[in-house]
Amino acid sequence: MYALFADASVIPVLTVEREADAVPLARALYEGGLGVIEVTFRTPAAAAAIAAIVREVPQVVVGAGTLLRAADIAAARAAGARFLVSPGITPELAAAALAAELPYLPGVATPSEVMAARALGICVMKLFPAEALGGTALLRALAPVFPGIAFCPTGGIDERSAADYLALPNVPMVGGSWMAPREAVAARDWGRIRRLAERAAGIGRAAAAA
Ligand code: 3PG
Repeated sequence: MYALFADASVIPVLTVEREADAVPLARALYEGGLGVIEVTFRTPAAAAAIAAIVREVPQVVVGAGTLLRAADIAAARAAGARFLVSPGITPELAAAALAAELPYLPGVATPSEVMAARALGICVMKLFPAEALGGTALLRALAPVFPGIAFCPTGGIDERSAADYLALPNVPMVGGSWMAPREAVAARDWGRIRRLAERAAGIGRAAAAA
C-alpha cells in the first residue's frame, strides 16, 4: 500500500466526462509532478479513461474511485486500475475489494467505520467528505484513538488547506479535484492543469520535507 503511494502526497481525484480527455489530462498532471491519480466511477467514460491511461501513460499510477458496488470493482480491475477507492464501506464492497488483491482505500466518516475497516486489516483509509466532517480538527481527534491508522482526507480540500492536512502525523496524503477544475477539463486547458498540478506537487514536497 505505502509503496504505491510512497511519492504521492497529493492525489488528483478526477471525473472524466469524455474518454478522449483522459490521456492529455493524465499527461498534464504527470508533467506537473503528480504521478498517482484517481479516476472516479461517476461517468460512463470512467473505465475506458482508466484503460486509456494505463495503455498510453504507463508512468502514471491510476486507480479507480467512487466504487459503490462489487461490479464496479470488477470493472475497475478489468480496466487496469492499480488501486481502489470507495466513499464508504459495506461488507459486500469490502469483500470484493479485498478479493481483488489491489490496494484498497475505503471511505470512513466515523470512529465506528474506522473500527469496521480496521477489523478487516485495513490501516489506510479515505476520510470523506473531509471538510464537511470537521477537517483537520476531526483528524487530530482521531489520532490518539487510532494509532497506526493513516487517513487520506478528500472532499472540499484545496490548495489553501492541503498543507494543513499534510502537516498532521496521521495524514500521509490528501485527495482532491482542485488541480483539475471541471471548466479547465471542459476547455481542454491542459496548460492550466499542469500549472495547478505543479503547485499541488510543491505542497506535497514541502510537507514531505517538513
Ligand atoms: C472525492 O470523491 O474524493 C471527492 O469528490 C473529491 O473531492 P473534491 O472534489 O471536493 O476535491
